[in-house]
Amino acid sequence: MQMTELKNFMVQVNEKLEKGLSHYIAKLHAPQILKDAMDYSLQAGGKKIRPTLLFATLHAFGQDIEKGMATACAIEMIHTYSLIHDDLPAMDNDDFRRGKPTNHKVFGEAYSILAGDGLLTYSFQIIAQDSSLSTDQKVRIIELLARSAGPEGMVGGQVADMLGENKHLTLNELEYIHRNKTGKLLSFSAIAGALITEATSEQIKILEVYAENIGLAFQIRDDILDVEGNEELIGKPVGSDEENLKSTYPSLITLQGAKERLHDHTQKAIQIIKQLNLNTTLLEELAELIEVRNH
Ligand code: IPE
Ligand code: IPE
Ligand code: MG
Ligand code: MG
Ligand code: MG
Repeated sequence: MQMTELKNFMVQVNEKLEKGLSHYIAKLHAPQILKDAMDYSLQAGGKKIRPTLLFATLHAFGQDIEKGMATACAIEMIHTYSLIHDDLPAMDNDDFRRGKPTNHKVFGEAYSILAGDGLLTYSFQIIAQDSSLSTDQKVRIIELLARSAGPEGMVGGQVADMLGENKHLTLNELEYIHRNKTGKLLSFSAIAGALITEATSEQIKILEVYAENIGLAFQIRDDILDVEGNEELIGKPVGSDEENLKSTYPSLITLQGAKERLHDHTQKAIQIIKQLNLNTTLLEELAELIEVRNH
């Protein structure tokens, strides 16, 4: 697969999203140093996979992607906050992210903690103030986002990831970490698209299984890249997991075993999403891209 349709779509979407993100930061009434610290990581050139997933879902349902713009900016803000905090000395202690010095290396730890806090809380404000969604849609999206990003989702997964350092985890325990620290926010991105388009509960179930599989695939690929990735390309240090004594798919089931699992999850995602019987080329190509991405 050449993924041509997805690649063109991502160029369009990234441009719109970067404008959207700049607009939301520019209009903030807040201390300049805080705006600068938030903006620094937002504009550092992330891949924008989560917004792409939301937009690709809207596209499959024939919905205008503008309707998802505020929610997409909110997701990217929450994801970026999670990376700023993940890189802190108290957590993974990494010096590079998205090819640039990490937020705390530039602004110091205190401002980078607050920039993360700012991105997290502002994301909910942005959705609450979005005039293109109904009140009912906003409440459902906000509830799901809080559940996916908070203690029952990403934050819980990050804690489990830390508790697992220096221990030999079972594959089930590792899967719990992956599902939560990474999978839940990716799943949210697809389901939010469905909530915006008023999809049926059956369609949502299909999207959930698709998203669950690409969510696991995404973190397995991340673990593989931490072993054999190119530091220049991925824009963050290679070998961070080994240094922090993390259990990962490669460390538990070998690099080859991890690649096989990654392939299985990708194939499952592609098979299930076809059952939507909509124009799902972008969603299929996105699963494919997650399997082979080198950054
Ligand atoms: C990195 O996410 C952290 C994980 C959840 C694995 P991405 O690989 O999506 O990071 P950016 O946004 O492109 O920098
Ligand atoms: C972190 O996983 C996932 C987050 C929720 C931030 P990693 O610690 O493996 O992410 P990278 O490799 O630093 O991007
Ligand atoms: Mg981490
Ligand atoms: Mg990390
Ligand atoms: Mg990693």
